[in-house]
Amino acid sequence: MASKLTPQIITCLILPTFLLLFFYSTLPPLYTTPTSKIPNFTPPQCNLFKGQWILDPIRKSMYDSTCPFHRNSWNCIRNQRANMDRINSWKWVPEDCDLDRVDPVGFLSLMRGKNVGFVGDSLNENFLTAFMCVLRVGDGGAKKWKRKGAWKGAYFPKFNVTLGYHRAVLLAKYEWQAKPPELSVQDGVKGIYRVDVDIPAVDWANIADFYDVLVFNTGHWWGFDKFPKETPLVFFKGGRPILPPLEMWDGLKVVLENMVAHIDKAFPKKTLKFWRLQSPRHFHGGEWNQNGSCVFDEPLQESQLDSWFDPANNGANKEARKLNHLIEEKLKGTSIKTLDLTHLSEFRADAHPAIWLGKKDAVAVWGQDCMHWCLPGVPDTWVDILAQSIRYNLEMG
Ligand SMILES: *[C@@H]1O[C@H](CO)[C@@H](O)[C@H](O)[C@H]1NC(C)=O
Ligand SMILES: *[C@@H]1O[C@H](CO)[C@@H](O)[C@H](O)[C@H]1NC(C)=O
Repeated sequence: MASKLTPQIITCLILPTFLLLFFYSTLPPLYTTPTSKIPNFTPPQCNLFKGQWILDPIRKSMYDSTCPFHRNSWNCIRNQRANMDRINSWKWVPEDCDLDRVDPVGFLSLMRGKNVGFVGDSLNENFLTAFMCVLRVGDGGAKKWKRKGAWKGAYFPKFNVTLGYHRAVLLAKYEWQAKPPELSVQDGVKGIYRVDVDIPAVDWANIADFYDVLVFNTGHWWGFDKFPKETPLVFFKGGRPILPPLEMWDGLKVVLENMVAHIDKAFPKKTLKFWRLQSPRHFHGGEWNQNGSCVFDEPLQESQLDSWFDPANNGANKEARKLNHLIEEKLKGTSIKTLDLTHLSEFRADAHPAIWLGKKDAVAVWGQDCMHWCLPGVPDTWVDILAQSIRYNLEMG
């Protein structure tokens, strides 16, 4: 009897599903749709970036302080940050679908013989560190890996998978020049940081044939904290200074245009390219160097987010959304997919290392860390989203 039903099932279920999938695949990638219940079928990608954090008291982190890939100042369990169990009990629940927790063995099997690279600043390093610690659950033989311009990384021998991080905080090449011969140095300028807007930093200049998946970012270095007036960024194109000289923000626009064009052109079409949007900071009561604090026990409420982050309110943490507008504009029409991890992270004022930095004088010297994230913690949710997006894109071709 069952065999008689099979052709009917094919017509009634599978064929319409294919048609549906074909239809959805012609829509923008973030189109929201309920999860398909047919096994072995990847549901059309939904909007994983809109949702809420729900407390799930039995939820546990997948790794602990003994992961060998930790960076000391983010190893919050070892540094005895208050509240770590609670921080890791919040689950991100998208509005219209499920976010699966990454299955380390399943993901590594899917990626067998493939490599994932992160290029950008320490927020991407924070992301990669979480990814390495999560995947190590699926391959205890994971080893540290460092090659081809990589700052750090991990190799998973059971699956022949490599994860690497290429540090390139501005993405474009930049270097210190004490006495720039081409430029008349204004009073008070000690030297410049020359930025070649059309040349990628050497750390990721030659990785095009190695990675199957890449995740880019840049953002929080584009400020006067990092490059004050005495040591400014000066932008060059085609080997010559851009005239009239560009302000930092205009320089960022030109760098984004050039780097996005370079990524589009230099990497093979089959390489999956993502750009992760800004990681929001949570300095309360002042900037990082003005005793700004993030000793919070709970995520923010949705109704609080605009007062923290809307640029119109001119708060200490406004730049994430400002940068995102610019980046999203430059990514339009390119082969690079956007990972909008900003909104979900905006809630999590409770999940930064804050005063628990693992070194006695760190807070006095550097202030609280309300920018990077505790591990385990919020970046593990970024990993779940990235893994689901990779799986979706690989399986759907
Ligand atoms: C491991 O993967 C690389 C691609 O990253 C491939 O070139 C190599 O042949 C693989 N090695 C084995 C032993 O499968
Ligand atoms: C930060 O706090 C310390 C100690 O409470 C105080 O001495 C200092 O003036 C504060 N700095 C700022 C910028 O508020």
